[in-house]
Amino acid sequence: MFLVSNVAMVTEAMNAGIAGCIPALNYRTLEELRAALKQLKANKPEGGSFGFNLIVNKSNVKYKGQLEVICEEGCDFIITSLGSPEETIKQAHKAGIKVFCDVVDLKFAKKVEGLGADAAIAVNNEAGGHRGNMTPEELTGLLSKELSIPVISAGGVGCKADIDKMLSYGAEGVSVGSPFIASIEAGVTDEYKQACVDYGADDIVMTERISGTPCTVINTPYVQKIGTKQTWLESVLNKNRKLKKWVKMIRFSIGMKATEKAAKKATYKTVWVAGPSIEHTKEILPVKDIVAKLTT
Ligand SMILES: Cc1cc2nc3c(=O)[nH]c(=O)nc-3n(C[C@H](O)[C@H](O)[C@H](O)COP(=O)(O)O)c2cc1C
Repeated sequence: MFLVSNVAMVTEAMNAGIAGCIPALNYRTLEELRAALKQLKANKPEGGSFGFNLIVNKSNVKYKGQLEVICEEGCDFIITSLGSPEETIKQAHKAGIKVFCDVVDLKFAKKVEGLGADAAIAVNNEAGGHRGNMTPEELTGLLSKELSIPVISAGGVGCKADIDKMLSYGAEGVSVGSPFIASIEAGVTDEYKQACVDYGADDIVMTERISGTPCTVINTPYVQKIGTKQTWLESVLNKNRKLKKWVKMIRFSIGMKATEKAAKKATYKTVWVAGPSIEHTKEILPVKDIVAKLTT
């Protein structure tokens, strides 16, 4: 999870018997990314596995360098999001790294399968962050029938019963984000973690004011104050084909800075990304206890 996941969380996840993943963008420089890879390799227990998430579209100007460093250092898997994973799959497979691709529909899932993806991550409409449009049952059910690669269900898992449900739809595994925000090890403020305890599924809204693409956030008084729709000026500029790209880039940059501030520092501008699965989050716990709660 952007801004949230770190080496401590992933190490504890591996120690608790699950795989963990960090977005490469959580590191400002390639040197920091390399150091995290080295640390995770040193911390990895027997049988453990960890991966990195790569945003593979043009918005990620560090993509090439990140892929290079990950392939040089090595890890168990890469999760691709927001774009074609073709180049990532080529390079990662040469380095012996598996590639799991985020998908939200059958068309794109078939494409990544054709490109050689090792698994499809079916991001449904209950996921935190940039969610999909289909229900877990629809999307996972459809993909597990139509693909020959494994399908991992992402979104809406807050307890063991949710995992069992996703497996019954045909998933081989689940990808879980939001329930781990309120972990001791997460790299965000206590206020953000506590908000995941205090708010529930009904408090999650979609906003266009972070990245330009709708994203789930907690409906704090600040989010209510600024609204969830793009501003009047943005919607006017967005109608202009030439300006559209620039408006999106500026919104992305402003939104990311605001989200980073809210996640890392005390501020009244509480734009906290989370999904409805925080419904089951009742206290801030170590990662190992969250894993135990999810699996027993
Ligand atoms: C705070 C937060 C940050 C996220 N950051 C990323 C990210 O950087 N890259 C990505 O591919 N998905 C990201 N996601 C989506 C997750 O990878 C995953 O699809 C989602 O958390 C699953 O839904 P859940 O939150 O209900 O478990 C993020 C989700 C959250 C809640």
